[in-house]
Amino acid sequence: MVNWILKKIFGSKNARELKRLAPTVRRINEFDEQFKNLSDDNLRAKTAAWKDELSKISDPEEQWRRLEEILPEAFAAVKNAARRLKDRHHSFTVCDQPMTWDMVHFDVQLVGGMVLHRGRIAEMATGEGKTLVATLPLYLNALTGRGSHLVTVNDYLARRDAEWMGALYNFLGLTVGCIQHDQEPDVRRQQYACDITYGTNSEFGFDYLRDNGMATTREQQVQRGYHFAIVDEVDSILIDEARTPLIISGPATISTHQYDKWKPLIEQLVRKQTMLCNRVASEAAEKFEQGDIETAGRLMFKVKLGQPRNKQLLRMMEDPEKRRAIDKAELSFYTDTRKEELFLLKEELFFTIDEKSNESDLSEQGRSFLNPDDPNAFVLPDLINEFTEIDLDTTLSDEEKDKKKSERQQHCDEQAERIHNISNLLRAYCVFDKDVQYVVEENKVVIVDEFTGRKMPGRRWSDGLHQAVEAKEGVQIDRETQTLATITIQNYFRLYDKLAGMTGTAETEAAEFHDIYKLDVNVIPTNRPVARKDHNDRIYKTRREKYNAVINEIREHHNKQQPVLVGTVSVEASELLSRMLKREKIPHNVLNAKFHMQEAEIVQRAGQPGTVTISTNMAGRGTDIKLGQGVPELGGLFVLGTERHEARRIDRQLRGRCARQGDPGGSRFYVSFEDDLMRNFGAADRMTKIMERFGLEEGQELEHRWLNKSVETAQKRVEQRNYMIRKRTLDFDDVMNMQREVVYTYRNEVIDSEDPRTLIFEVINEAIPAKVNEFLDIDEPNYSGLIHWVNTTFPLGLTKEKAQFDSRSVEENAQFLIGKVKEAYERKSSHEEPTAVKSLERYIILNAIDRLWQEHLYAMDALREGVYLRGYAQKDPLIEYKTEAYDMFVELMANIKNEVLHNLFRSTSNLQAFENFLATLPQFLLKEDAPSAATAGADIAAKRARQPQPVGAMAGVAMDGDGSGEGYIDLPARRSLPKVGRNEPCPCGSGKKYKNCCGRTA
Ligand SMILES: Nc1ncnc2c1ncn2[C@@H]1O[C@H](COP(=O)(O)OP(=O)(O)OP(=O)(O)O)[C@@H](O)[C@H]1O
Ligand SMILES: [Mg+2]
Repeated sequence: MVNWILKKIFGSKNARELKRLAPTVRRINEFDEQFKNLSDDNLRAKTAAWKDELSKISDPEEQWRRLEEILPEAFAAVKNAARRLKDRHHSFTVCDQPMTWDMVHFDVQLVGGMVLHRGRIAEMATGEGKTLVATLPLYLNALTGRGSHLVTVNDYLARRDAEWMGALYNFLGLTVGCIQHDQEPDVRRQQYACDITYGTNSEFGFDYLRDNGMATTREQQVQRGYHFAIVDEVDSILIDEARTPLIISGPATISTHQYDKWKPLIEQLVRKQTMLCNRVASEAAEKFEQGDIETAGRLMFKVKLGQPRNKQLLRMMEDPEKRRAIDKAELSFYTDTRKEELFLLKEELFFTIDEKSNESDLSEQGRSFLNPDDPNAFVLPDLINEFTEIDLDTTLSDEEKDKKKSERQQHCDEQAERIHNISNLLRAYCVFDKDVQYVVEENKVVIVDEFTGRKMPGRRWSDGLHQAVEAKEGVQIDRETQTLATITIQNYFRLYDKLAGMTGTAETEAAEFHDIYKLDVNVIPTNRPVARKDHNDRIYKTRREKYNAVINEIREHHNKQQPVLVGTVSVEASELLSRMLKREKIPHNVLNAKFHMQEAEIVQRAGQPGTVTISTNMAGRGTDIKLGQGVPELGGLFVLGTERHEARRIDRQLRGRCARQGDPGGSRFYVSFEDDLMRNFGAADRMTKIMERFGLEEGQELEHRWLNKSVETAQKRVEQRNYMIRKRTLDFDDVMNMQREVVYTYRNEVIDSEDPRTLIFEVINEAIPAKVNEFLDIDEPNYSGLIHWVNTTFPLGLTKEKAQFDSRSVEENAQFLIGKVKEAYERKSSHEEPTAVKSLERYIILNAIDRLWQEHLYAMDALREGVYLRGYAQKDPLIEYKTEAYDMFVELMANIKNEVLHNLFRSTSNLQAFENFLATLPQFLLKEDAPSAATAGADIAAKRARQPQPVGAMAGVAMDGDGSGEGYIDLPARRSLPKVGRNEPCPCGSGKKYKNCCGRTA
């Protein structure tokens, strides 16, 4: 077998890399031989022995080295266990279905396992048994006791694989867990505690966010580190899903959109544009008739600018001569010398839409239609110029200049917001189609994943686009949500010490895997030669002709009972085909975003004789298709792609649905010039020539090897562009990621700290000097300002005389205050119960972090949107974003510290203790006329007034007050503890009931 592998791929880097693994394959098989003589218990005992040994190695490097050494033996143990299960026809249930174990790892699977263990991507064709391959490295790496994770694309696969492979792990004495969407934290924690845990990327990611951004104690956290993960269908997860970050959100406090307001006008505008474009198109048709090809081409290019999906335009594109004229016009307009003309042409429309970049732009006409009184309402002012003018204006004082600038800035922001709203609405109307990019369900706009055709409830387009589409569909416009915690999939997976991946299709994206994840791809040969026959694409002029041909081919296969799997790129296409098949009375199953519940079941049956299954391209990915009786003789499953997808990978994935494990099978793709891919990225010019040369008749097709090439070129172009988009998302997220790391690390330090007082004192040490500098390290030291700040923050009752600030250096003053505050704080806490104080101290810091971090996220969202708008003003949004994000972060960290200081003396773990402390303060420090709104405070103040109780030694706490009443502190303005039920767990995290802890009012 190994020899066959080496023969098959000879000479390449990949081959050399795999060749080096061959001796290990041999050793694994030798161990497997030896292990046959062991009893079950003896085989199992190996697991425990290795675990024990590895747990004693604390140096991670050393641990990895040891894993490398035991790899052959450990893999052999797994293989041997699989053999035992097979020999015994071990039966069990998987997803409530009976199952009998029937697999022993093939040699290529051992190779795959080693590639995964090395932290690489193993490309193994669909159906090669990747589920089983993963057991080898998962077992090996779990021996460290630090947990191995397997990441799948959906809950069903997570459960199926955990239960299926669980048979093997259990036999070997390892525990296996599985994360499912609806699990409670306790259950999740148990799953993560297992040696091996299966789950989807979003569950893993959300657990991370909850653990690090929301949990307030160790006990509330469910995960336990990021040691080793294998990502199944790695291209789907790390590339396709990576475009939308994981977001935990709550409703936003303020909403600024104006979609409702603009919708009626935009609707009219779109209608006007449609009429205009239709008129222009008719005019063009006349010109064509009269032989004025050039003018006609120019007119149609204009239609394309204004309405890329105009019906007449699409029809004309079918005609080679007209198509050529339009393409020619387009090409010539994009030369530099005609910039001005292009601008004028655009001005003849109300707006222009660029389908490729999803952008829209209003023209002068469009602007004055929307706001006849002030067409400038949609033009961004040139801020830089305006600012320069203000600066140069000698009649203004500095203050006036600042005021003017901030007015102009605000004006600019308002304009930008308006432009953004309108641009979103135009896109919603002109580029986003119902049942293609989204479906409307239960009064909600639900995104349909363009790659899988799955609905993605809960996900929303960002930047207000989602709301624009909601406005268009007349469903309720959801309140803008505010991000509470967010991370991109990329950055989640970067947390792991070692990451590996497997998929049938990685090679085409190898560069991206390498650049972004430092993951290299190894292509593992199939166990048996692939018997699939891939036919040349068939290319048609129009969609209609294409679909007719598709139906004909389906009928041919169906007539001889050969099963067919038909792949489509959208729900709309699936439904169209389904209608056509119904008319032909061909029974079939439809698998699309609307039925993804039964997805797996239907796909499993797709190999039975006579079945026709229509499926969006990747629906049912990962589900096994077994051929029914007699099907191999008919040529196996036939896969028919009805459109080339944007990414070659997705097409290969579809092809791979058939001919698994050496089964026979065949595949063919159908393409038409009207497909989006061909329209937007096809080598239009070349295609037109071909059409002319061949003089295509109605229903006639093109089929040639090198035509496949030009389709592929178009695909490569889109892949490139999508890569750039993802890279861009990541560039933006990198900024956030660094900040998130800092904040989450700090947060965890607080949660884990046994002595949170040191953290509180750290804050005091850092924040007070900063404040003191702010007041004193300036030309004219502001002593009274500092005293005011001190007295409104801490109960020190400081006076000018007591403070003597002017007698010390700035530095000394800071030290003086630090000493005072710490002393007072020690005194305050001495009235409380020590463990409760610890919880409270953690709570004070966490509360400050969380509240401000969430505000920060909100501001970052806004900034992100803002800099995107600045893109209109010719600045690089990323650079702007980075600079401002940095400043905002510095401010955030300072604010967190100040908030901690502010709350130090305004929170208590116990009201009685607090009262006691208050009682020790001099009278004047308390505002007797405290506003009654602050109930708790007023209450205490009132009580205290009735019954002043300076306690013994604490009477000295009269501190530095001299009774002059110079500054007093509105203590306690509020209790920093949230409202909780008396029987609920205390929010301070002590684990006690609230009534027995912080809620205990003596
Ligand atoms: N060593 C083996 N011996 C026998 N059958 C095997 C072996 N390995 C895998 N199989 C069978 O191959 C089929 C495909 O397995 P699996 O679903 O794990 O493939 P896959 O590589 O994950 O495919 P996909 O890319 O579609 O997810 C299953 O029916 C499995 O039982
Ligand atoms: Mg799989």
